[in-house]
Amino acid sequence: MTINSRIPGFKDLTVEERRNKIGEMVGFTEDDKKLLSLETVPRDVLNRMIENVIGYFPSPLGVATNFKINEKDYLVPMVVEEASVVAAASNAARIARIKGGFYATTTDPVMIGQIQVLNVDTPFFAAQKILSEKERLLKKANDLDPVLVKFGGGAKDLEVRVIPSILEEMVVVHLLVDCRDAMGANAVNTMVEGIASDIEEITGGKVLLRIISNLADRRLVRARAVFDKDALGGEEVVDGILAAYAFADADPYRAATHNKGIMNGITSLVLATGNDTRAIEAGAHAYAARFGYYGSLTTYEKNKDGDLVGTIELPMALGTIGGATRAHPTAQLSLKILGVKTAVELAQVAASLGLAQNLAALRALATEGIQKGHMKLHARNIAASVGATGELIDKIAKKMVEDKKIRMDYAEELLKKFTGRN
Ligand code: MEV
Repeated sequence: MTINSRIPGFKDLTVEERRNKIGEMVGFTEDDKKLLSLETVPRDVLNRMIENVIGYFPSPLGVATNFKINEKDYLVPMVVEEASVVAAASNAARIARIKGGFYATTTDPVMIGQIQVLNVDTPFFAAQKILSEKERLLKKANDLDPVLVKFGGGAKDLEVRVIPSILEEMVVVHLLVDCRDAMGANAVNTMVEGIASDIEEITGGKVLLRIISNLADRRLVRARAVFDKDALGGEEVVDGILAAYAFADADPYRAATHNKGIMNGITSLVLATGNDTRAIEAGAHAYAARFGYYGSLTTYEKNKDGDLVGTIELPMALGTIGGATRAHPTAQLSLKILGVKTAVELAQVAASLGLAQNLAALRALATEGIQKGHMKLHARNIAASVGATGELIDKIAKKMVEDKKIRMDYAEELLKKFTGRN
C-alpha cells in the first residue's frame, strides 16, 4: 500500500479524526481502533512481559507526518511524554521533502557477543589458537539457532582481542552474529553461552562473562538529507545551524544535549515499536565516543547552493520480530502504521527521524530559542494541571501565550477569571 505522509492540517484534527485518518490510510480493523481508544493491552500480556505487574502506564502515541525515506512515504509512530517533539520532527521532515526527503542505508544487522576469558597464561598465543578453530566454533554456535540460519542469519565471524585491564590481560572473544529481523540479544547470548566451554578448552583459561555488546558498531545505519535554505529561513539560519553543530562537535557538554535531541526522536519510535530503548541509547552514546572523545552523532555542511546538508550515523539494534515487539499489540499496530517489512527498514526510519529531530532542535535553538514553541505546547499542560477542563484548556493556554505569561500562577488566575470561581 502506498501512502502519502504529507497530511496538511493533521495537527488541527481531533484525536478521533486523526485516528480515523490514519486508520483509512493504513487500514485499521475494529480491534486496532479499540486498542487506540485507550482500552489498551490485555492484562495477561502485561503480566507476562515483566514481574510484579500492578497495572500499566499509558503514554501518548503520536504520528509524525511528512517523512519520505528512500522515495517511500512513512507515517512514524512515536511514544513520548515531551510536548513539541512530534511536531518538530514532522516539521523538519516537511523541509527535507523539498529536496527529495531522506536517503538511508544500513550495514548487515550484525551484533557482537562477547566472551571474557580470564587466567590465560599466554593471551596472544591463545588468541591465535581460538582463531584457528573458528569454523568449528561458528558451526557450533549456528547449530544452536537453526531458524536464524534458515533466514540467512547466524554466526558469521569471530574475532579475538587481548585487552589490558586493572587485573590482568584478558582474552575477549567477539562472536559476530547476523540477527536479520530480530534485535538479537537472545540469539547472541545463547550462542556465546553455548561455545564458552570450547573456548575454555582451547585456551586453558576461565570464561566469565558471556553477553551481547550494546556498542553495536557492526549494525550501523546512515541517513542523509538536504534541507532547503529558504524553507529553513535563509542563509543566516543555515549558518546558525552550522555554528550550533560546530559547538556540539567541539564540546561534550553540548554534544550530550545535541545527541539527547536526536534520541528524542529515535527513542520515541523504539518505544512505540516495543524495542529496547536502553540498548539503543547505550549504543548511540558509546558510538558517539568511539574516537576517544564524546561527539555529535550528526554532521552538517553547506552545499554550493547554500542549502544545509545533514548526515547521521549510529548503531541501531532494532527488531521487528520477537520480544515485546511481538507480544505487545500496540507495538504491532505501530509497525502496521509504519508499514515497514524488515528491521533494516525500521532502522532507516529511526535514523532519518533522529536527523529530522536534531535539525528541528538546532533550527529552533539557532533562531527564536527552544522555549517559545515548547512553552506554547506546554501551556495546555499547565492549564490542565491547575484544573481546567474541556475548551477552557485551550482558552487559558491561548491567553497565557498571548500575554507571554506561561506560568501556573497565571493559569490559576485565568481559571478563576473564566469560571468566575474563587
Ligand atoms: C530537548 O528535549 C532537546 C534539546 O535540548 C536538544 C538540543 O539542545 O539540541 C532541544
